[in-house]
Amino acid sequence: MFFNKPKAKYNFLNDFDNDVYNLFRQLLDNRDELIKLIEFTPIVEYQFKEWGKGKREDSNLLNAVRFLFISNFGLYGKPNTLRIGCVNPKKQILSVIDKTFDFIKDCYFFNTDFRKFFNKCDYKSNLDKCFCYCDPPYLGTDNNYSNSFTNEDSNDLFNTLEDSGVKWAMSEFDHPFILDQANQRKLNVIYIGERQNINNRRVEILVTNYENRQKSLF
Ligand SMILES: C[S@@+](CC[C@H](N)C(=O)[O-])C[C@H]1O[C@@H](n2cnc3c(N)ncnc32)[C@H](O)[C@@H]1O
Repeated sequence: MFFNKPKAKYNFLNDFDNDVYNLFRQLLDNRDELIKLIEFTPIVEYQFKEWGKGKREDSNLLNAVRFLFISNFGLYGKPNTLRIGCVNPKKQILSVIDKTFDFIKDCYFFNTDFRKFFNKCDYKSNLDKCFCYCDPPYLGTDNNYSNSFTNEDSNDLFNTLEDSGVKWAMSEFDHPFILDQANQRKLNVIYIGERQNINNRRVEILVTNYENRQKSLF
């Protein structure tokens, strides 16, 4: 979402996952070394599987490459089987890396639990100019993220967003708990469309605290 829309004047990005945060840190701090390491790291099934099972490296730079490989080189996005397709994922990553660097070089990155995020930003004097987009792990879905979500997390996220005072939007599936929360809190629900993967078929929604005239995101 962030990479497919015009940037705001100030952009604050947060993810609790250390690997997500470390990847952006390495791109910002060590771009040339990161590119070289991606170029020279062989795509080897044995190492890919070891990384996928959780083996970590000693340096942050190598762990950024590890994370890129296990997130992009596997079949169905899982680090079990190497994906062989028309597009070489290594070439694909290298082709966008400079563009990505340019896009994020003036952004602010955070690596914190969402419950603490708003306390770290001084935004209250510009409330009407702020917008927060949230893309939490989908509730009730077996996903690949290291931090999955419970009903309590979702409830806390709704409370955190409502307490923040900013305009916000949250991506979710049409999970009964989410729909019920949206209804109780008098929020708007926009139906985006159906999403199907190998395991299930779900309807993607956008919950907002403002009236939305947008028909579809995609
Ligand atoms: C659906 S993914 C979205 C990732 C990102 N928006 C993207 O498109 O690549 C959900 C993200 O929420 C993060 N997350 C899970 N629990 C969190 C928490 N308590 N605070 C902040 N982020 C969290 C996960 O680490 C994961 O990267």
